[in-house]
Amino acid sequence: MILETQGLTKTFGKLAAVNNISFGVDEGEIFGIAGPNGAGKSTLFNMVAGFYPPTSGKVFFRQEDITHLSADKTCRKGIARTFQIPSTFHTLDVYDNIRIGATFGRMAGDHRKIDDWIDEIIDFLGLDDKKHHSSVNLDLYSTKVVLLAAALATDCRLLMLDEPMAGFTMAEIESYLSLVRKIRKEMNITVIIIEHLLDILIDVSDRMMIINNGELLYLGDPEKVTEDRRVVEVYLGGKDYKGGHNV
Ligand SMILES: Nc1ncnc2c1ncn2[C@@H]1O[C@H](COP(=O)(O)OP(=O)(O)O)[C@@H](O)[C@H]1O
Ligand SMILES: [Mg+2]
Repeated sequence: MILETQGLTKTFGKLAAVNNISFGVDEGEIFGIAGPNGAGKSTLFNMVAGFYPPTSGKVFFRQEDITHLSADKTCRKGIARTFQIPSTFHTLDVYDNIRIGATFGRMAGDHRKIDDWIDEIIDFLGLDDKKHHSSVNLDLYSTKVVLLAAALATDCRLLMLDEPMAGFTMAEIESYLSLVRKIRKEMNITVIIIEHLLDILIDVSDRMMIINNGELLYLGDPEKVTEDRRVVEVYLGGKDYKGGHNV
């Protein structure tokens, strides 16, 4: 396993935003996470990547206890994440936004190597024509691809994407998913992806998890998620699942 959590919990006052969640992600997997708004998905990411210290529980990355490491340190270990609300550094062009990822990541300090590496990422994600564009006026899709590039530029082994496809058209979802699959296949990076649309998540994930009110509701085979009684009752409103639900 590349990532494992044990009883991970985060409380804000009386609210248990994430409550005793244990799960593992295998090396090379695309692992999907779904759950209603406020379920605790982003909080889970924040704990794994060192943005919030957990209230209790543990996080292991490649068997090493990283529970108390800060975000810069988890990044140097090989964990990169994107944020739900996309934001580039507006005063910098596309290239320099990606460079920031490289500068803070595992290649920090190695400037000659970094230049080639950034070009490789830009080529890999098809951003060549936007390389020297301002990052301010990019459309939503391109902004998300630039942020994906910045995350990859850290030279991560685990990439965590927090609802990256929110606001996309179906065509944009398809293109983004093909990038995610290509990242896993050709860069051999493990991907955890949060996505609202269950059908899309079922399609892209090797395994998936649903959380609800901070608690783990389902963990396992994406193909069987809609057959799970608890998922249907609690999450899909008790009706037989026919596909196409926006969760
Ligand atoms: N920093 C915070 N302080 C207080 N409450 C928070 C904080 N972050 C998240 N929450 C609360 O925790 C719950 C889970 O939020 P979040 O993890 O963002 O859910 P999701 O990403 O699944 O929509 C929500 O009720 C949210 O209001
Ligand atoms: Mg969220």
